[in-house]
Amino acid sequence: MPVSGRKRAEELRREIRKHDFQYYVLDQPLITDREYDRLYSELVALETADPGLATQDSPTRRVGGEALDAFEKVPHRKPMLSLANSYSPEELAAFDERVRKFLKTESEMVYFCEPKFDGLAIELIYENGELTGALTRGDGTIGENVLSNVRTIRSLPLQLTKTPRLFEVRGEVLMFKRDFLRLNEQQQDAGIVPFANPRNAAAGSIRQLDPRIAASRPLRLFAYAPGAIEGMKFKSQEEFELALAELGLPTTGIADAEQPMEAYIEWATARMKRGEGQGRIPLARLCKGASEAIAYYHFIESVRHDLPFDIDGIVAKVNDYALQEELDFIARNPRWATAAKFKPEQAETWVKDIIVQVGRTGALTPVAVMEPVRVGGVTVTNATLHNQDEIDRKDVRIGDRVLVQRAGDVIPEIVHVALDKRPADARPFRIPDQCPVCRSPAMKAEGEVVLRCTNPVCPAILKESLKHFVARRAMNVERLGDRLIETLVDEGLVKSFSDLYRLTKDDLLTLDRQGEKSVANLLESIEASRKTTLPRFIFALGIRFVGEQTAKSLAKAFGTIETLIEVEEEALLAVEDIGPKVAASLLSAFSNKALRHEIKALRKLGVEFEKPKKRDGGSSKLVGKRFVITGTLPIGRDEVKDLIEANGGQVLSGVSKKTDFLLAGDDAGSKLQKAAGFGVSIIDWDGLQDLLR
Ligand code: IVH
Repeated sequence: MPVSGRKRAEELRREIRKHDFQYYVLDQPLITDREYDRLYSELVALETADPGLATQDSPTRRVGGEALDAFEKVPHRKPMLSLANSYSPEELAAFDERVRKFLKTESEMVYFCEPKFDGLAIELIYENGELTGALTRGDGTIGENVLSNVRTIRSLPLQLTKTPRLFEVRGEVLMFKRDFLRLNEQQQDAGIVPFANPRNAAAGSIRQLDPRIAASRPLRLFAYAPGAIEGMKFKSQEEFELALAELGLPTTGIADAEQPMEAYIEWATARMKRGEGQGRIPLARLCKGASEAIAYYHFIESVRHDLPFDIDGIVAKVNDYALQEELDFIARNPRWATAAKFKPEQAETWVKDIIVQVGRTGALTPVAVMEPVRVGGVTVTNATLHNQDEIDRKDVRIGDRVLVQRAGDVIPEIVHVALDKRPADARPFRIPDQCPVCRSPAMKAEGEVVLRCTNPVCPAILKESLKHFVARRAMNVERLGDRLIETLVDEGLVKSFSDLYRLTKDDLLTLDRQGEKSVANLLESIEASRKTTLPRFIFALGIRFVGEQTAKSLAKAFGTIETLIEVEEEALLAVEDIGPKVAASLLSAFSNKALRHEIKALRKLGVEFEKPKKRDGGSSKLVGKRFVITGTLPIGRDEVKDLIEANGGQVLSGVSKKTDFLLAGDDAGSKLQKAAGFGVSIIDWDGLQDLLR
């Protein structure tokens, strides 16, 4: 029986919502990006063909309408207040004492503790289950309705799984650190001043009047507090947060309070250090008394940098809502909650020099070289200054005393100059309009703030391009490190990508520190890299705006590199996720004679493309690994089992602590929860291919 368009559209919407939840909330994708895109495109096609099929809450309607002139001002039903801040764990003991004194009780209080997210507070308003408003805090009484932007946050349901009359929930909009770094790279590539930190990036995105901008930013939200609610009742913060997850709203998950505090901390720390981030490790926990709350504070502080997002402390809330009511508010702060912040990770140091680095795209980036200083457990010596505008805005001079911090906990940056400590001989700095390496003129493209070296064969650009070319996700030349690349270029042995494949044993033996053995290994790994895939090769070329995903789309659309370098704009624009900017960059790259020549030379030197491997003849890549399979996979169960066993792995039927991987296909069932509970790694079909590669 053919499925009606309406039915199929509904099915697709349900599927896409499920996968959004798996990906953004649970951090456990069940399908590949490509499979997701396929579902999404099918829905877009159905809804475009028959607009009557589209619903308000369709995943395709996250960006609705045009840019606004201004945000509407809307009063909060319940005032949106903030917490008193303290900066030390001892303050938690003082807070506990205040609470018990006020309640006139000797007995131990139970606190609901969770991380204090470093983002932007937002109130979501769901009416009869439908997201109808999203307000900023504003002055606490009146906020601005930023719904058009908040709707674009893919981890947020537009429709709850239940339909209470009114459900207001407060949470924090933020950006994951890795998403922030990628966004900043793109900003920089596009010649736009990057954001100082994830919080600014998130807040800046929410304040945009054009929802398409917010839609292009990787925003997330964690929910943590109730606003006005009608049609549902909660006895405690724990009950409220459990309900959030049930309603489909993202939280950090609640740890099992039956597990003793110490065991929880040990368990969670180990997992966190192994890089199994949020989504799999519950971060909120009930704490008994001040002592557990303090232990929780130290625990969260110790794993702070392993979390995928920025936090700046913990929040402790009296768990029982009846007690919260009794405790009430004092001035504008609740008496039932407190925020214990972590010490800010900033430090003062001296700027010894400002140097200019040349990147792969020729961009000249000024970098402050500082007296080494410890910030957040890491010794910092360099801080990027981004561009001249940034240097001028912060008025950083050589010799200045500056305050540094690690933005998004990763890249060090200068917060401000301590002007009162500026030495008389501090020297202002101007980026030269000449490449510091090859002395060619440097220029700004129209509308850009970044200066770029104009010499296509600049050795600095060549070095950076080569580093990208050989990178693991590109041509994957395992033995060729950054140092060696610099030497090869400096010695004139490599002047282009293709020169790598012309290197001989005799060439390499002339270099310092290169013996017979290391030369043989290097040549072997260069040799091995000749066999690659088309997406990797396209990515390796390092064309501006062409990341891995775009490279994959191009490979899929055009099939061969020879076709790709001849395509016209129209054909490029017809490819999904290729816009005018990327198309222009590709056309300009492929009209460059030198690059065309390089591509042909590489092919002549034996660079060839295989189809990404589907089946492996047999290896020992999975030896000692125990797998459990669930859901529907692209090939039959038995074939999957054969494949795993042919590579040395073992396939078992039930999930246990001893399982290494749960291989989850479509419509995976209860095994998923079970595996997550045991901390078992969950992989999809592509994940298995990665293991076999
Ligand atoms: S509960 C009455 N929980 O920090 C306020 N707030 O000043 C109850 N924040 O306004 C707030 N993470 O913007 C709460 N897990 C969390 C939080 C959190 C971040 C923010 C929020 C709040 C401010 C405290």
